[in-house]
Amino acid sequence: MSTKTLKIAVIAGDGIGLEVMPWGIRCLQAAAKIYNLSLEFSEFDFASCEYYKKHGKMLPDDWKEQLSGFDALYFGAVGLPDVVPDHVSLWGSLLQFRREFDQYINLRPCRLMPGVRCPLANRKPGDIDFWIVRENTEGEYSSVGGKMFPGTDREIVIQETVMTRTGVDRVLKYAFELAQSRPKKHLTSATKSNGIAITMPYWDERVAEMSQSYKDVSVDKFHIDILTAHFVQRPNHFDVVVGSNLFGDILSDLGPACTGTIGIAPSGNINPTGKFPSLFEPVHGSAPDIMGKGIANPVGMIWAGQMMLEHFGYKEASAAMLKSIENVLSKGGDAVITGDMGGRGNTKTFGEAVEQDILAGSK
Ligand code: NAI
Ligand code: MG
Repeated sequence: MSTKTLKIAVIAGDGIGLEVMPWGIRCLQAAAKIYNLSLEFSEFDFASCEYYKKHGKMLPDDWKEQLSGFDALYFGAVGLPDVVPDHVSLWGSLLQFRREFDQYINLRPCRLMPGVRCPLANRKPGDIDFWIVRENTEGEYSSVGGKMFPGTDREIVIQETVMTRTGVDRVLKYAFELAQSRPKKHLTSATKSNGIAITMPYWDERVAEMSQSYKDVSVDKFHIDILTAHFVQRPNHFDVVVGSNLFGDILSDLGPACTGTIGIAPSGNINPTGKFPSLFEPVHGSAPDIMGKGIANPVGMIWAGQMMLEHFGYKEASAAMLKSIENVLSKGGDAVITGDMGGRGNTKTFGEAVEQDILAGSK
């Protein structure tokens, strides 16, 4: 029995976010029931285009006060490009959370699930099972730079990469600890020190330094170009892969793409210090093309909830949720699975099947 209550702010957002969120919550509640967890959900209607229509902004002015006291934000998807331009809806909501709550880790599992057609040849579940840890606050995505003499022959454009010791060390520490917690205890670092000859050697230097504190973790590094090839050609090599903001961005799309459909991939934006809430969300967006039809795959949302439990150390409950997702993916059948995975089911049949499997206490 867990004594702590996990306080979760629920922000469903737009489009299919609103359709998959109820199943995420129901599956979490099922896990809470079986494993005696105390989860408290509070729903918010902001960070949505509906809210924008009413208030002319994506968030209320006091959003930070309203959300700071939560342990986690459980987030659906934001964006309805026909109503609000994407840069306004995304920058006005999700990116505010990531930045203001200093969610300096972006974490994505790259795991080949049973029942999912792998785009890579001859791979079966178990062959691909690793994590991608992306630095989420600095690096190549900086606002340091500018443009001079625009529109003339002397036009100059500069954008600097910013790496701080604090920023680099904290993401490496997280990645090393994650590797240490896994059976394979292996960490791969993405670099490009042959081309980006100042910041990337620095990144490598910090990896070497940090590895001194984690002697039981084996470490290797690859230049980003060949690393992308290895993701495709020998994904079984990897256990935890850590990269700067840009490299991590690329790898965290490529990795999950190597393991199947966007409808099932989850992601965590994590502040490991706990000073501010972390955010867990499906990788997919609001899918305006299928919204309102009740056919969205709810697994990305449910799996994001599973990641949230895992992050907070609810090992048994999170393992059981993952197992239930796997069970339904592999044995749910055509009538249960949604169309994006080749089935005839809908959000309800799929979500309900996972919920029931969790309630059945599946191990
Ligand atoms: P999207 O992920 O919403 O959709 C891409 C394609 O995948 C669509 O054909 C969609 O029907 C399909 N798809 C996505 N999730 C699915 C699911 N669960 N089940 C079945 N099919 C699914 O990306 P898109 O179309 O580029 O963006 C749509 C809106 O979502 C935009 O406003 C965009 O800014 C926003 N967006 C928001 C994100 C977030 O909140 N984190 C992430 C990505 C996009
Ligand atoms: Mg991306």
